[in-house]
Order: sequence, then C-alpha cells, then structure tokens
Amino acid sequence: MSKIQILFFTGIGFLIASCAQKQVALVGLSNEGQSFVKVIHPDGGSCDPVRLDFQNHETQVLQLNKINFDGAAVCEATLPKNVVRVTQDSNSIVIPQEPKKIVILGDTGCRLKFQDGRGVIQNCDSETDWPFQRIMRSVEKEKPDLVVHLGDYHYRETCKGDAKCKKFEGALGYGFKPWALDFLNPSLEVLKTTPYIFVRGNHEDCHRAHEGFLKMLAPLSGDRCVDIQDTAYTSFGNFLIVNFDDSNLDDSPLDQDSVGFKTIQDKYKKMVETIATRPESTVWLFIHRPFWGLSPRAGNQAPKSNMKQAAASAENSLDLVNVNLQRIFKELPLPNKVKMIFSGHIHAVQVAVGDHPPQMVIGESGTSLDFFNDQNLKAVPSGYRVFPSDYGYVLMSKDDFGKWTANIKSIHGQTDFTCQVSEPGVPCLAYK
Ligand SMILES: [Fe+2]
Repeated sequence: MSKIQILFFTGIGFLIASCAQKQVALVGLSNEGQSFVKVIHPDGGSCDPVRLDFQNHETQVLQLNKINFDGAAVCEATLPKNVVRVTQDSNSIVIPQEPKKIVILGDTGCRLKFQDGRGVIQNCDSETDWPFQRIMRSVEKEKPDLVVHLGDYHYRETCKGDAKCKKFEGALGYGFKPWALDFLNPSLEVLKTTPYIFVRGNHEDCHRAHEGFLKMLAPLSGDRCVDIQDTAYTSFGNFLIVNFDDSNLDDSPLDQDSVGFKTIQDKYKKMVETIATRPESTVWLFIHRPFWGLSPRAGNQAPKSNMKQAAASAENSLDLVNVNLQRIFKELPLPNKVKMIFSGHIHAVQVAVGDHPPQMVIGESGTSLDFFNDQNLKAVPSGYRVFPSDYGYVLMSKDDFGKWTANIKSIHGQTDFTCQVSEPGVPCLAYK
C-alpha cells in the first residue's frame, strides 16, 4: 500500500471514530440506597445486566431497566447498599470506602449561545479554546477515587446567524447529541473506572438541559422535573459529602418574602438540621452557585484567544455571588463540622475565607472563562482570592495524617498552586 493510500485510510478511520457516538457506563453516588448505575447506548438497543461485588465478597447480577432519551437507550438501576465494584463488559467502576484522591471540576461544556449577532461561539474543535477533553486526559492519569462535577455540563444551546454555526447544525439544543459531545464523550475513559457525584447546575434547570441530566446523571426518580432536587448525603465512614441543589436560585437579591427565597431557605434549614444529626465529623458541601464568589460583570466571558479583547471592554465591577445564600447563612450558619464548601458557576478559581467555612470556586474546566482584568483584581475584597484566569481542575489529596491539600492544576495536570485546607485561612502558595 502506498504512503498516500495509508494516509487516506487513516484519515477515514479517524473521521469515523471522531463522529461515532459511544456507549457509556457510569456510576453516580447519592444517598445510601439511591446511588445508581447507568449504561447509555446512543443508538438504542437492549439492556444487559451488570455484575456487582459487595464488601463481604459476595457478587450479584443486577438487571437494568430501559428508558429513552432522544433515541438513546439509558439502561439504569439503583445500586444496593455496600457495593464496592460495578462491572459492565470490560468496564470496572470501583466505589471507594475512604476516598483519598478526589478530582473536582465544573462548568465544562462548549459554549454555543449565539443569536442576532450577540453571544459566544466557543471553538469546540480546538483544545486551546475548549480544553475539556484535554483536562479529562489529565484527570484519567490522576487515577482518582472519586470525581465531583460541580454542574453546568451542557452549553450547546443555539447558534444562528454566523457562518461558524454551520458545523454545529444537528448537534444543538437539549437532546442526546449535544450532551454526548459536551460531556459524555470527553468523560468516557474516566466514567468507566471512577464513580461521580453529579451536582446540578443552572444549565440543567427545568427550562434548559434538565431532561438529559435527570435521565443520565441523577438518581432514578421518574420524568417530572423539579426545581430543586432533594439534598443528597453520601457517607464514607467519618466523612460526609453533601450535594445541595441551588441550580434554580437567582443570583440577584430576592425579596425575603418571595416563594423563591423561602423555598431555598427551607431546603437549607432542613440540610443544616440533617447535618447536625449525622454521625460523620467532617462534612464537605458541594453546591453549584457559591455562597461567597466574585463574578466580573457581564461582558467579560471570553475564549482564551479573545482575552485581550475582553480585558479592553471589561468594566471595573464585581458582583457578589450569591447574596441570597449569604443572607440565609447569616441567619443560620452551617454547623462547625462543615469544613469546606465547593462550587462552580463562576468560570474561574477562587478561595474565600472569613467567618464561614472556606469556600472554593472551581468553574474553569472548559467553558469560556470569566476574565478578571487588573482593575477587577484591584477591587477584590479582603478574604477573597482570585487565581490567574486559566483552564484546569482541582485535585484534593488526603495524606496519612488525614490532612487535605488542594492542588490547583492546569489542563496538563501540572500543579500551579497548593492550598493547605486543614489550616486556618486556607493559605494557597504558588507551586515551584
Ligand atoms: Fe452556572
């Protein structure tokens, strides 16, 4: 075969591989008795059982039930208690008893929201402009025990009125294909070995990509979309992860007598009461919109290649996100055993400390970054730290003495900063 023929066949093979929708197996952790396995067949088909291994070394074959999502078959079942391994074909997902390496990421989809000359068209084919796939290759090498996705998986909503939109035709909106391209395919290799905790973002609320989230990434609960999902408590011995849904909450101040405010306040109160009665001594809270975050005002969202333009147009103004949560917290603080809060929503990395549990914002894992210019950075209040705008993720590592360190990593997996979260003030140092 000539060199030209080899190149030709290799090219076709790549084309087919890159267009193919792939089968996905995943495990989502939730309340005891509500964790789930889902096997997603893009072109429909029947459901094969999976094998379960239990703590006491017993095994069981688990049948999956089929539901439909836009032509894809989602085969699903709730996992019984004490499962330590789920095996599907050659995929083997191990559920840790004590996670020591947790990857946290958020806001990962490729932003396509363009109409009437306004909006953003992120370059989904470029790993520089949309590096989520690159990040997931680095995450795979970490071999984490657990991944927490802080929400906002789906960004391919609309693209009209620009020549660049043509290549996205047929893969926009809230159906299966944009979900596969935005989240499932780039995450495939990590999903098939590692359990996730899936936090819901505002992009997955009842007006947007809720159907894909509820059918593929949430516990089995029927088709009806609820504005706020039940809070989930996932226990690992003495360590508790709380997954609180604030996807539907407004970022602007709400009237304290409004239904929206009272609904989130009631959910929050119930969560505080539940945490207080739980036996675990260390609690981390995961919630999409942060209690204490800083957002540059609209106009600063930019793909990396356009940051200079964003800097030139940026106003010197920051919004506090989320003022409603801050008000609710002031009336009823979180119990002392809540040691950390992690959120996404703002496309940056930030740490906030003060008269509250340390809050990390980790929302820089693929979607156009929220760019902070020099004037924005000068306006950062005390107690907040905004890290340099760049894409990446965070690895939380627990040492033999039980101390956790946050490693803020680049898309290539290099550590840029380390934060000693067990120490007061959560000092974060540049990593040499
Ligand atoms: Fe968000």
